[in-house]
Amino acid sequence: MNAEQIDAARCEALELIAAAGCDAVLEELRVRFLGRKGMLPEMMKGLKDVPAPARGAAGKAANAFREELTAALAQRRQELSSPAAAAGAEFDASLPGRWRAAGMLHPVSRVIADAVAIFSRMGFVAAEGPDIETAWHNFEALNTPAYHPSLDDTDTFWLADGHLLRTQTSPVQIRVMEKQAPPIRIVTPGRCYRRDTTDATHSANFHQIEGLYVDRNVTLADLKGTLAFFAREMMGPGVKVRFRPHFFPFTEPSVECDFSCHVCGGKGCRVCKNSGWIEIAGAGMVDPRVFEKVGYNPDEWDGYAFGMGVERIAMIKYGVPDIRALYENDVRFLHAF
Ligand code: DAH
Repeated sequence: MNAEQIDAARCEALELIAAAGCDAVLEELRVRFLGRKGMLPEMMKGLKDVPAPARGAAGKAANAFREELTAALAQRRQELSSPAAAAGAEFDASLPGRWRAAGMLHPVSRVIADAVAIFSRMGFVAAEGPDIETAWHNFEALNTPAYHPSLDDTDTFWLADGHLLRTQTSPVQIRVMEKQAPPIRIVTPGRCYRRDTTDATHSANFHQIEGLYVDRNVTLADLKGTLAFFAREMMGPGVKVRFRPHFFPFTEPSVECDFSCHVCGGKGCRVCKNSGWIEIAGAGMVDPRVFEKVGYNPDEWDGYAFGMGVERIAMIKYGVPDIRALYENDVRFLHAF
């Protein structure tokens, strides 16, 4: 074997070593090149047949080759043992890709995020309050007397120490007004709890978004304009809004606000119970007695407030006929949005 042949064998061997993907292959190559019956020992044996003048050069080349192979094997072994190399070694471009589900917001979270964004464009800031409330914040300061039926055990989850799970987000109005002087413009999303039997439109645990605006010379027209703007931004320009007189202890006058049913376009369907309308919010002008409870002067300040049902909005916006689908977290359902 002359020096040229050695060089050709050397190139091939180094290429094979560099391409080895795991230790087993590397070991096979070591045996093939350096093992007792491997290429190198054979080459050494063959040296005796090389004509004398060239024998010295061939011997040197063979020795250099052996050293180079030994070093290349060691280097590749080290590369394979490092994590980065291991990842590369496992990668097989011919395998089909693995499908990974992209995370997404739950429809309830999405409605809350969208609503807060819409109201923030009208100057409202988000506020939050606790789920476990005092009777003062949830009822009394909201002008709801202790004999009101909503305080019954059959309606409200009372805790042993006299606290309760808030039945509405309205107590956050009180908490903010107790701490802060007017003007106030807040929206407060959150969870609410009532002893309701679960059915297609009721759940013992649901979400509301409360709004409160306190300033000088606030009128019912401001409230109507705000909710109508919100409806169009949330549901699209085709939505109709109507207000019906109602009663709430903490507002006077009080209204209920309905959106035209997005599912049937107002014609009547299962979701809107054939009425063409869905009740979305309770609202009204803040009762002067509520201002008195938090120490505001009712002669100086006016305000409006509203509380809307998040699940209701999600149901008509996304055409969900049963509220329970929003809580079961069946990923096939959640991926539809
Ligand atoms: N808290 C009421 C409810 O859960 C909704 C509501 C009505 C909130 C009128 C308000 C309001 O802020 O002014 O039914």
